[in-house]
Amino acid sequence: MLIDGHGRRVDYLRISLTERCNFRCQYCMPEKPFSWVPKENLLSFEELFMFVKVAIDEGVNKIRLTGGEPLLREDIDTFIAMIYDYKSDIDIALTTNGFLLAQSAQRLKNAGLKRLNISLDSLKSDVAAKIAGKDVLKTVLEGIEKALDVGLGVKLNMVPLLGINDGEIVDILEYSKAKGLKVRFIEYMENVHANSEIRGMHGREILSKIKEKYHIKALGREGASPSFNYKLLENGYEFGLIDPHKHDFCESCNRIRLTAEGYLIPCLYFDEAQSIAEALRVKDIKKASAILGDVLKNKPKENRWDHEELSSDDLSKRAFYETGG
Ligand code: 5AD
Ligand code: SF4
Repeated sequence: MLIDGHGRRVDYLRISLTERCNFRCQYCMPEKPFSWVPKENLLSFEELFMFVKVAIDEGVNKIRLTGGEPLLREDIDTFIAMIYDYKSDIDIALTTNGFLLAQSAQRLKNAGLKRLNISLDSLKSDVAAKIAGKDVLKTVLEGIEKALDVGLGVKLNMVPLLGINDGEIVDILEYSKAKGLKVRFIEYMENVHANSEIRGMHGREILSKIKEKYHIKALGREGASPSFNYKLLENGYEFGLIDPHKHDFCESCNRIRLTAEGYLIPCLYFDEAQSIAEALRVKDIKKASAILGDVLKNKPKENRWDHEELSSDDLSKRAFYETGG
């Protein structure tokens, strides 16, 4: 069993398969062109899978594939099938921007994928384009439909941004309800790579937009999920709020992250990471396990997004496009 230095059980592994992305979301990517990690630095599926087996044998029961955009990694379904064939009851999920989903949903489902989280920040083409850096809405909505058609579980993610999509919180909530999907509103997590002009919304501001139309009841956190759940009293619809600025957010953290280059990252906020790439390249599983033990021992107790006034020193330097949120 994997236990971190603060006594929290770690049973959830998130693997970023590539930092590359076909979107340029304002809250995630630098605007200026920058160079990607060379492809040869990426771990192969075989190398990643060596670590996946260690993690599963140590009690990991949930694996989420992220990016960048994970569907840019060719043959991702092969990797999903490798995990599924090793242990079919692992909860395998994927976080995607949905752009390549219409064409891949069936293959993903056949490979053993169970669930998807899809980003949906706006239902207006021009706003969606402003956030993602290109015209994406129609293709993403088609991807959502296709994922539902093939029987994948779908949740939606929205990051509300002041003056950009803050007027659409209720629209996205109602769209999600109409589709029978759960939506989670995610507080913007400030970081040095994002557009410095964007301003996120605090959870209480997001809730007050919803309260203009509905009465809501707080339900609480679902196990170790970062999402705090709420219910609309008018119709029973349940939605989530991911509020990393809140003090108790990290108490039940159960996760560890592995990047495409082989860095083990204990916390989304902090830049610290240790590489297991070399160990995996020479198939030294013992060494990779020892590094995992060390990373867990030093997993931070909590992030620093809860600081009311974020000074530039407090801005997270960790890139979301490397860790997939
Ligand atoms: N703040 C909050 N959420 C973010 N995501 C990416 N960057 C950020 C950020 N800075 C989330 C988005 C996206 C998922 C991949 O990660 O919800 O849907
Ligand atoms: Fe790409 Fe996701 Fe980052 Fe948007 S949030 S730029 S879709 S990695």
